[in-house]
Parts: sequence; C-alpha cells; structure tokens
Amino acid sequence: MSTSRRQFIKKSTVFAIPVIIPASARGADGTVAPSNRVTVGAVGWGMQGPGNTQSTMGLDNAQVLAVCDLDKTHLAKAKETVDGFYKNTDCAAYADYKELMARKDIDAVTLAVPDHWHALVATAAAKAGKHIWGEKPLARTIVEQQAIVKAVEDNKVTWQTGSWQRSVDNFTKAVELVRGGYIGEIKEVQVGLPSGHHDFAGTASKNTVTPPPAELDYDKWVGPSQMIDYIAARVHRNWRWHYNFGGGQLLDWVGHHVDIAHWGLDMDNSGPSTVECQGEFPDPAALWNTCTKYRGELTYPKGIKMTIAGGHADIAGGTKWIGSEGWVYVNRGAFDASNADWKRFRVLPDNMRKADIYRSGNHFKNWIDCAIAKKPTITPVQTAHHSAIPGHLCLISMLSKSKIQWDAAKQEITGNPEAAKLLTRGYRAPWQLG
Ligand SMILES: NC(=O)c1ccc[n+]([C@@H]2O[C@H](COP(=O)([O-])OP(=O)(O)OC[C@H]3O[C@@H](n4cnc5c(N)ncnc54)[C@H](O)[C@@H]3O)[C@@H](O)[C@H]2O)c1
Repeated sequence: MSTSRRQFIKKSTVFAIPVIIPASARGADGTVAPSNRVTVGAVGWGMQGPGNTQSTMGLDNAQVLAVCDLDKTHLAKAKETVDGFYKNTDCAAYADYKELMARKDIDAVTLAVPDHWHALVATAAAKAGKHIWGEKPLARTIVEQQAIVKAVEDNKVTWQTGSWQRSVDNFTKAVELVRGGYIGEIKEVQVGLPSGHHDFAGTASKNTVTPPPAELDYDKWVGPSQMIDYIAARVHRNWRWHYNFGGGQLLDWVGHHVDIAHWGLDMDNSGPSTVECQGEFPDPAALWNTCTKYRGELTYPKGIKMTIAGGHADIAGGTKWIGSEGWVYVNRGAFDASNADWKRFRVLPDNMRKADIYRSGNHFKNWIDCAIAKKPTITPVQTAHHSAIPGHLCLISMLSKSKIQWDAAKQEITGNPEAAKLLTRGYRAPWQLG
C-alpha cells in the first residue's frame, strides 16, 4: 500500500471523491485494515461520551486510539471500555486534552465535554488539524461559537455536530415534505423544547458545599468559568442547570429541534431578525438557576414567525411547520401532518421527492466518510452555529428584558449595547479564547 488511509485524508484536496473505502485499503476478509482507519481520540466520558465512542468504534473505517477525561474514575472506565472492545490494552488515557491533541497519529476527535469547555477544546482540536465530532449547542456563547467556526474553517477540518436527528428517517421525511412545497408557503414554525430541570445524575440531594472528590480535578473542570464552590449536584451531568456552565433546557435542546426547524426552512445559514422572549427563573443563587419556563417569538426572513417554547401546553415538543396549504409535525418517534397519507411512509417515496435533501442515515458514518472524502457533513459547523443562535438570543432577550434586533448577516445585536455584552462572557485566568 503506497498511501495509508491517514496520508490519504491529509493529502486529498478533491471534494467529489466518492465515499468508499478503496479495495486496496481492505484486508483479505473485506474489512478495513487498522492502518487505513481514521484514528480517533474521545474527549469527555460522562453521559454522552460513551455512546459517541461506541458508535465510532462500531464503524469499520474508524479506530479509537485514546480517551481523555479529567475525572480519574471516568477516564479509567473509558479506557476499560475501549480496550474491552478491541480486546487489547492499547488505548491511551489522558487527563489533559492538549496531550491528546498533540498526537500526530490521531486524525479525529469526538468531544463530549460540558458546554463551558466546548470553545477551548474544539478550537484546540481544529488548530491541531483534527476532524471533529462536536456536541450541541455549539458553545456557551455566540462569541465562543464564532471562534469555533473560524478555527474549523481556517484549518479545513471536517466537523459533524451531535444534532443527530438529521440522520433519522422521520426527521428527513418531514424536511423533504416541507422543502418539497407540500404545505405551500411556510408562515409559521413552532418549536417545543423541555422545561424545568431534570436530575440526570441523581445528585439533586447532594446540594451542599463539600470538598471535591479526590478523583476530580475540580479547578480544571470549572476551567474558564467563574470559580464557585463544589456542589456535586451541579457538576457531572447536572452542570447544564447552572448558568456558570450551561444554558438550561433552552440551550440543551435548541441544537435539536431548532436545528430541524432551520433545515426545513432551508435557512441553515440564516437566522431571525427580531427575538423577544419571556421566562421564569429561579433565584440566581439557587442550586440550579436556569430558566424553567420560556416562550420566545422570533421573526425570520420572508415574514416567517417562529415560536420557541418550553413549558407551554400549546406548543408540542418537537418541530411543526405551518404553511398556506397544510402542516407537518415531527419529534423523536413521532410524525403527524395535515395529510394523513404522509404518515404511511417511513421514508418519502422517490416519486414524491421534489427537494434534493442531504440524506445521511448514520450520523457517525457520515462524519468519518466525509472526513475521508473531504465533503461537508450533514451538520457542518456553520449549521451548528446558526441552529444555536436563536437559543442564545432568546436567553439574552430574557436576561436583558428586551426585544433583540439581530443583524444575521453581521451577527450583531443592534441598538442595545447592554444586551450585546451578553454575546460573550469573561474567562477566568489563565484560560483565554485564542
Ligand atoms: N447529542 C445529544 O443527544 C446529546 C445528549 C447529551 C449530551 N450532549 C452534549 O454532550 C456534552 C457533554 O454532556 P454530558 O451530559 O455528557 O456531560 P457530563 O457531565 O455527563 O460529561 C462530561 C465529561 O467531560 C469531562 N470533562 C469536563 N471538562 C473536561 C475537559 N476540559 N477535558 C476532559 N474532560 C472533561 C467530565 O469529567 C465528564 O466526564 C454537552 O455539550 C451536551 O450538550 C449531547
């Protein structure tokens, strides 16, 4: 073999290479030889990291070589899982993501760290030339998201977002109907997201200040955020309910259902011009202080109205497009439409496909195949950026108690300097967004 898979990825500049593994890269048994697989490092082994890593290991053209977590217990579990899969003890384990990024033999990384760490880890990965699976929402603030977009584009790495609904049949069918014109001219979109808080880690009762456990480097876990006392209930998994680290249900879910809404509108690189959102918040000093109920009204190009709501019975969870001639509603495991016939198909029949919509079918395979072929994934970084912006703007509208005027082309809040300050946040030394 003159060109290894890794060299092939690095050398290839052609976008139209078909997504196939050349026969020469396969062994006698038809599987891809280890030396020709895309090599992967997995950063973050909490709620989402293990599933992402299992899915990546399940691909015949990818191989996980290393794991990283700053919690020693999570890191040990990660190594044990990867070694168990490959039946060896080869997986390298790092506490510091920078050491993993420095490995020249690693082509790609899956990132599943809390939102307050997204920007630093993703920009480091892009600058190290790694192809990236990054989680939604793209980052904790819009300015951090812009830094990720720039690093990914400057370094020409392949980005896939964990907005995996795009690779699931009923979401694809819904978008193909909407984009195919079956509901006429779109007038309105309703996006329903969860409300309240959910005790993912089962730690709600561990709600007092204690010393951090020995296995966790808590100072580093807090990273660029403000240092606050260790309380188990707002660290692993439940960090998303405190604004120092995450953005509550609104930002946890915007990258799923607003992502699908934009796809149906054919507005992956567009956004709202006005955003007005009201919500209910716990006391800022509460254990979990993120918004529990919210409703945002947004104006999109062509006069389309979007409602993004959590905890409002009139807006069902998922995405619903309402047009001049009908409507389509989609959620996980759910599909409904004004035309009952459309419910019969799992996939839109070819003779009904009027719009040329990107079909993936497997979000992880799509990422690795696109990294090899140097093609855009189904959810590239600009899409992730624009899918999360409406959530960030809803939060800014609530915190600033104002209607936001958004210049989507310049990505600026106009006429409201106080609200514009919330596009970014301070970083705790020594962390800096480079
Ligand atoms: N796509 C989806 O459906 C989906 C579902 C759940 C979570 N997520 C996303 O995945 C990300 C992680 O969420 P989670 O629920 O798994 O969080 P989690 O708290 O369960 O896990 C995060 C892990 O990252 C580790 N970590 C934190 N900072 C780190 C750093 N600097 N370097 C290395 N490791 C670090 C933690 O110790 C922890 O093990 C979030 O962005 C979340 O939005 C996506």
